[in-house]
Parts: sequence; structure tokens; C-alpha cells
Amino acid sequence: MNMLLLAVALVLGGGVLWYLLIATEGVYLGRRVVIGLYDLYARRYDNIKQFDTEWEALTLGTPLAEALRHLPQPLILDVATGTARLPRLLRQAPAFDGVVLGLDYSWRMLRVAAEKLGETPRVALLYQDATHLPFADETFDAVTCLEALEFLPDPTATLSEIVRVARAGAPILLTNRKGIHARLMPTKTQPSEAFAAWLREKIGLVEVVVEIWQMEYDLIWAVKAGTPPMRQVRAWQAALRCPACQKIGFRADAISALVCLHCERRLPITAEGIVRYAK
Ligand SMILES: C[S@@+](CC[C@H](N)C(=O)[O-])C[C@H]1O[C@@H](n2cnc3c(N)ncnc32)[C@H](O)[C@@H]1O
Repeated sequence: MNMLLLAVALVLGGGVLWYLLIATEGVYLGRRVVIGLYDLYARRYDNIKQFDTEWEALTLGTPLAEALRHLPQPLILDVATGTARLPRLLRQAPAFDGVVLGLDYSWRMLRVAAEKLGETPRVALLYQDATHLPFADETFDAVTCLEALEFLPDPTATLSEIVRVARAGAPILLTNRKGIHARLMPTKTQPSEAFAAWLREKIGLVEVVVEIWQMEYDLIWAVKAGTPPMRQVRAWQAALRCPACQKIGFRADAISALVCLHCERRLPITAEGIVRYAK
């Protein structure tokens, strides 16, 4: 009898652990666990995902680059960039001549991203939590966030930030988890059409379109409402908010740091090229 109870307890305990750590990637246990798991799996992430690069270029890189073709040197923010999937795709897209900034809060995911990117002036990496995007309003010509919203501590806060830092008229590209993968995550996901309606009604996005994309995710294309303002091409560092004095604007100091234009606060840049914004 005791052995039977022990076996039942082990099976139940294993099931709960599988659910909390694997099926829902730690999201019900808080940000530290989510980031800890991504740090742990960073080196294996691309192998686990097995991205089909042709399909990815066709459905992500090329259409986004085409949507930005009319702008000289567009500036893109990829929130929760992981191993730089989207920056790599954009960099390869023939129509793209801009700069992509990848932001993530897993240091090891960013290190893998840096390795995969190699030296490139067209992509920058920033270590920071996606809950607060430390940029001036209306900075980016497009903002993307792929396969990540449901794992963030406050997706509504991140979406509000995404809209704030995007220019009026900017494309916004998101994903929505679906099917059994979504049903396993109650309170963190909703059906794609309901998500699209919520983006229109509560977040104020326009031209919201759901595109069937993968088994696990739909793509959501949207646009920030409003008339595009007069646009100046400027470096992303010029739009970065200082964590010390809260003012906007950094300059690069050789290659090892960004320096605040107002209070001289330094943000270190690692040898791999990652800017450490968060502590
Ligand atoms: C499933 S991966 C998606 C990565 C990439 N967007 C892609 O499509 O391959 C989720 C990413 O979200 C990041 N992430 C999770 N919580 C975060 C947070 N609070 N702030 C920033 N990034 C976060 C993880 O580190 C991970 O890189």
C-alpha cells in the first residue's frame, strides 16, 4: 500500500513539475524561473525549435522588409529577441537596409544571439526586461515580439510600451499561441480573433490581421494608429533613456560603453557586443 501511495505521489509530482517547468516554461512561477529556464536552454534553443529558414524568410523577414522598403535605414525593435531569430532574418532580406535592436532579459540567450550574428553594425543587443522599454516615444519604425508575450510578467504593460515606442504608422508584428499549447496556459492566452479584437479595442492598434502561421502560433500583423510624423534617421543610442537621470540620449564611447549625454552614466558593452542596460 505504501509503495502504491509513493508511486502515485511520484507520478503526480512529476506531472506537476512537467506542467510548471516544461509545458508552461515556468510562467506561473514568475520571471526569475522563466529567465532561468531560458538561460539553461539557451545553447539548445535553436536545435529544439528547428526553424525552417526558407519558411521564416517567406513569412517574417521578407514581408517585414517589404513593409519598410519606403523608409531609408529603418530602425526596428525586436522585443524578447532570444537567439536573434528576427534580426538574422531581416539582415538577410534583400529589401532591408536598416538597423535592428534585439532586447532580451536572458543573458545566455543574448550571448548565443551575439555568436550567431557575428560582428555586424546592423544589429545591436540590449540586456533588459521587456516590461519597461527604455526608449523615447515614437522611436522605432517597426516593433516585433515573437513567441514571447505569453511568457512575460505583464504582457499588457509590454504591449503598451511597444505601442508607445513605435512611430505612428509603424508595423507591429506579434504572435499568438494557439491549440493545445494555448489551452495549457489559462489566463496567459486567448483565441487569436479575441486577441486581435482586444488589440483593436483596448490597445488601439489598427489594420490588425491574423495570419495562420504554425501549429503553435498565429502571426498577428498590426499598425500603430496615426499619421507618421516627420522622420529623422538617428542612431538608436540617441533615443535610449538613462536609468540614472531618466533623460534621453547616449553616445558610444569607443566600443566598450555607451555614455549618457546628460549625466555621464556608462552602460557597459561586452566583448560580444551586448549592451548591459539592466543590472
Ligand atoms: C520562446 S523565446 C522567443 C525568442 C524569439 N523571439 C524567437 O522567436 O525565437 C522567449 C524569449 O522571451 C525572453 N523573455 C522572457 N521573459 C522576458 C522578459 N521579462 N523580458 C525580456 N525577455 C524575456 C526569453 O529570454 C526568451 O528569449
